[in-house]
Amino acid sequence: MSMLPADLLATFDALFAEAVAAGEPDPTAMALATADAGGSPSVRMVLLKAHGPDGFVFYTHVDGRKGRELAANPRASNVMGQIIRWREEGDFDGLAMRWDHLVLAGDPANARAEAQGNVKGDIFACPDGLMLDARGVLWIQTDAHASQMNQGEFARIGNNQMLACDRTTGEVRRFLTGPVNCEITGATLTPDGRTMFINVQHPGETSSDRSDPDEPNRFSRWPFGGRPRSATVAIRRRDGGPIGT
Ligand SMILES: Cc1cc2nc3c(=O)[nH]c(=O)nc-3n(C[C@H](O)[C@H](O)[C@H](O)COP(=O)(O)O)c2cc1C
Repeated sequence: MSMLPADLLATFDALFAEAVAAGEPDPTAMALATADAGGSPSVRMVLLKAHGPDGFVFYTHVDGRKGRELAANPRASNVMGQIIRWREEGDFDGLAMRWDHLVLAGDPANARAEAQGNVKGDIFACPDGLMLDARGVLWIQTDAHASQMNQGEFARIGNNQMLACDRTTGEVRRFLTGPVNCEITGATLTPDGRTMFINVQHPGETSSDRSDPDEPNRFSRWPFGGRPRSATVAIRRRDGGPIGT
């Protein structure tokens, strides 16, 4: 396809139509991934019977494995992402890991359970980068795609951003919001914790990932008003104090 439509379901419609037109033997065959209550994933093929704004319909036994897993963990179509906390069992000789979900990303206003998340604080989607600072604050950087942002289930989440998470309470607070259609990446702090560096990657990206040479400023002029540029940003508090306090 030359251009991806701006909306996730419209993207699916277009790709599905393309598969039908290509003469696929059964374009309704789809992979359904579920995860059990503990989060271990399993995937199998099912036949898509219908789809629309309410989601994707398939037929199956509700008491089969996938039915049980969907009842325990209804995030089969997880476009929001999550942060998993891993702990090694034992000491240096540990052979196993324990893990849990620190936070499920999403917006509680969404209709689909799997897009609601359980964020305590400022909502976000698509956590991509993490940094743990010396004080124990977990910094979260997000990377939702330009074809998802600011519409549908992402309408209230806004541009990609950086947030600070208190790992003991799970509370999340937004620290900064990036320019339109960028990704926030690569945070690091100076040892004194007073200067933070972050990268703002591909501001003004199009939903097809291809820029139009005739219209380079269509979505963003960040940072200097002309063609959008990726950049590293140094952040300091006005009073020079440690960041995040
Ligand atoms: C092409 C194809 C289509 C399938 N369609 C369905 C389906 O629509 N519904 C279904 O329950 N299983 C379907 N199956 C079987 C599933 O892949 C799976 O083996 C079965 O549902 C048991 O899965 P579970 O134990 O994880 O619940 C299909 C398998 C294939 C290969």
